Amino acid sequence: MRMKDLKPLIEKNRSYRRFDFGRKISEDFLVALVDAARMSQSAANLQPLSYITVSKEEMVTEVHKHMRWAGYLPDWNGPVNVERPVAYIVVLGNTEVKQTYREVDAGLAMQNMCICAAAEGIGSCMIGNLDKNMLVKLLEIPEQYEIIYAVAFGFPVEQVQIVPFAGDVKYYRNENQEHFVPKRLLKDILIKRG
Ligand SMILES: Cc1cc2nc3c(=O)[nH]c(=O)nc-3n(C[C@H](O)[C@H](O)[C@H](O)COP(=O)(O)O)c2cc1C
Repeated sequence: MRMKDLKPLIEKNRSYRRFDFGRKISEDFLVALVDAARMSQSAANLQPLSYITVSKEEMVTEVHKHMRWAGYLPDWNGPVNVERPVAYIVVLGNTEVKQTYREVDAGLAMQNMCICAAAEGIGSCMIGNLDKNMLVKLLEIPEQYEIIYAVAFGFPVEQVQIVPFAGDVKYYRNENQEHFVPKRLLKDILIKRG
């Protein structure tokens, strides 16, 4: 694969928050995503992360209650029932393994999963704003593990598009509920070259 093939995938790999709840994702696919996470770079190769897959509809429904969506869209309270994610992967820190740069490791692992999902037409959203205490109880997570993030998955029913940054980082939607994500321009972030 060449960069010209990969870059469109990176562009497509946006945060999606509205999905087709009728279109499920197999448990095997989620396990394959965790396998992709397993192969991520890791500081000192410590690999402090563990995972829980959630694909059974009843449990997805329960887990979903503890996610907070799109802080920049104050008039939107998260996806309506038929637009909920159909699966979650919860990213955990295993406290029995030394934790160095754990946040970076988690980011890399989630990125691998999201990119792989995007390659199959599946949208995702990393969720850092979640009720960890409730999820620990609900998922009966053993004491040695701490929840770091969750990633929501599903087939998107929304358009998400990058637009040039014009003074505000807040994402927004137009009247057709299309979602726009401002990204800073290359010329503004590449401060020195050569
Ligand atoms: C570490 C991290 C945590 C995030 N947490 C949330 C969250 O709790 N809820 C949410 O709706 N989006 C969350 N997002 C998605 C961001 O809002 C999104 O990445 C950002 O708006 C840029 O959009 P893009 O992913 O399409 O480029 C998170 C993203 C990252 C990287």
